[in-house]
Amino acid sequence: MAIGVFDSGYGGLTILDKIRQNMPEYDYIYYGDNARAPYGSRSFEVVYQFTLQAVKRLFDMGCPLVILACNTASAKALRSIQQKDLPHIDPTKRVLGIIRPTVEVIDTITKNNHVGIFGTPGTVASGSYPLEIAKISPDIQVSSEACPMWVPIVENNEANGEGADYFIKKNIDSLLEKDPLIDTVILGCTHYPLLYNKIRNYLPDNVNIISQGDIVAKSLKDYLSRHPEIDSRLSKNGKCFFYSTESKDKFKEVASVFLNDEIDAHQLSVE
Ligand code: DGL
Repeated sequence: MAIGVFDSGYGGLTILDKIRQNMPEYDYIYYGDNARAPYGSRSFEVVYQFTLQAVKRLFDMGCPLVILACNTASAKALRSIQQKDLPHIDPTKRVLGIIRPTVEVIDTITKNNHVGIFGTPGTVASGSYPLEIAKISPDIQVSSEACPMWVPIVENNEANGEGADYFIKKNIDSLLEKDPLIDTVILGCTHYPLLYNKIRNYLPDNVNIISQGDIVAKSLKDYLSRHPEIDSRLSKNGKCFFYSTESKDKFKEVASVFLNDEIDAHQLSVE
């Protein structure tokens, strides 16, 4: 009866980490589809199929609630799963994404209503951020920048390498060319907090950076306080289990970089 946390790979660990800091008493199952990551350049149909498969597996492991801790999956698969699949699979279970909670805090942070989004090509192509922002804060001008190299840099443990500087500067320059007035950027991919220091370094000092972990954690806490029927089904022993479609040794090695902690992991087959 754990909370399921899903990501294409390691990025969702940045979300899980913050959720556990805020809600240590709950049990969690993390599922990284590392064998098929990154999702960022994959088609809608494929991201939807892979995400649905993961959600079903987390349900089968007993999770009544699954968080898609992945912007690409939230952008491309969440709505179909909520509207089309959940009513057939189990209408008492819940699947939540991470784009909506992020968008809800933007107008408290931007001063001039000029906001930039960094995301995977998939998230940017989906238009999910501008669409969700327009529903809540129609006055905000949104510019987006797809950063196809940022996830591979993180997944290959090169976040502190010189190659990372080149690609981060390139995408930041390109975003600021689209709108030089931007005063707030959203790291719209769960891998990007691992690049935070370099991103901070290349952005002008006056630009705020919104990172999703704490925002998603607060939003989940609030959700559970408003939904006791879900909360009462969640077990609270403070445990966390890790599953990956990659080999467990590879997952453990890289996950420990994300979490600053040693973990144990189990491998799941891709099919
Ligand atoms: N971490 C995921 C996200 O938040 C995507 C990474 C990927 O491309 O698989 O968008």
